[in-house]
Amino acid sequence: MEKQPLAETAVNQIEKVFGRYPGYRRAHARGDIYEGVFAANGAASELTTAPHFQQGETRALVRFSHSSPDPTWTDIMSPVKGMAVQFHLPESAVANIVGVNSPIFVAKTPEVFTEMLTIMKSFKNGKPRIADLAQLVAKYPESRAGIDVLKKMHAPASFATGRYHAIHVFYFIDAHGNKRPVKYEWEPEAGVDTLSLAKAVSMPIEYYKADFEDRLAKGPVAFQLNIVLGEKEDPTDDPTQEWPADRKKLAIGRLLVTGKAESAETVIFDPTVATQGIECSEDRILNFRKEAYSISHDRRTKGM
Ligand code: HEM
Repeated sequence: MEKQPLAETAVNQIEKVFGRYPGYRRAHARGDIYEGVFAANGAASELTTAPHFQQGETRALVRFSHSSPDPTWTDIMSPVKGMAVQFHLPESAVANIVGVNSPIFVAKTPEVFTEMLTIMKSFKNGKPRIADLAQLVAKYPESRAGIDVLKKMHAPASFATGRYHAIHVFYFIDAHGNKRPVKYEWEPEAGVDTLSLAKAVSMPIEYYKADFEDRLAKGPVAFQLNIVLGEKEDPTDDPTQEWPADRKKLAIGRLLVTGKAESAETVIFDPTVATQGIECSEDRILNFRKEAYSISHDRRTKGM
């Protein structure tokens, strides 16, 4: 019998743990899509030839999401929120940056992630059992930091007040072919603000959507795009590790989210899709996501 590719096993496993919801993304199922404009300030033009990072404006599509694969979960059952940005480049090309409000991930490899899903059955109820977490950490010590971040995490008070990290490393390539490892983060201009427990408990369903649309009615919602510059000794293949806090950070542009997008539910925010001047790192989780997202896209657009 032919062996099932691991990405298919992973997506099947997500469905097994959280359920199958026809037409929805297999993770970050519930979310809202907006139009935006990204203005690059030119600070990255010495580091990359990517067209959207040369001084000037690029149209963007932005999807904010609640991380659960189950779209019936309330907003607050998913403290992890997503911000996926697709830059629309010349000649119908696109480049994506897909972030969440955590600087690190819980698994170093696709194999560990897929195995974790089997252990994480109790996540189905919104909160994992302590015993399940202890079992995970004992087996995969490198996952401790990511699990600790999740345990302590407070949801942002609004989609507009999260700091979103793309987690993985990418290489910027300049006009001479020099490569530099970078990590992306979106810094909210409204300031980082998280929800108190009291507010979280009383929050109505679709609070985030209503809040964001209230903000948009008053004007664009802004984020600054920063890159963190890696040094030689910094790991480039391990999403469970943060880089030292003193690494140089460079603001390379500003995104204005301006209004609702018509409908873009068929869009796929594949984090490996970039353009000239940007390359994916060797990180196996990053490269694995390409196939997993494609399987999810295929199923949901067929109404499965
Ligand atoms: C083994 C690792 C991972 C797997 C298997 C996985 C799986 C998935 C799947 C199946 C989707 C739905 C894709 C679609 O239908 O378009 C998705 C969406 C998403 N994932 Fe992951 N994911 C992984 C790691 C990560 C990491 C490390 C991040 C952090 C940056 C992340 C952030 C997101 C976000 C923000 C979305 C929603 C994108 C959108 O709005 O369309 N994922 N993920």
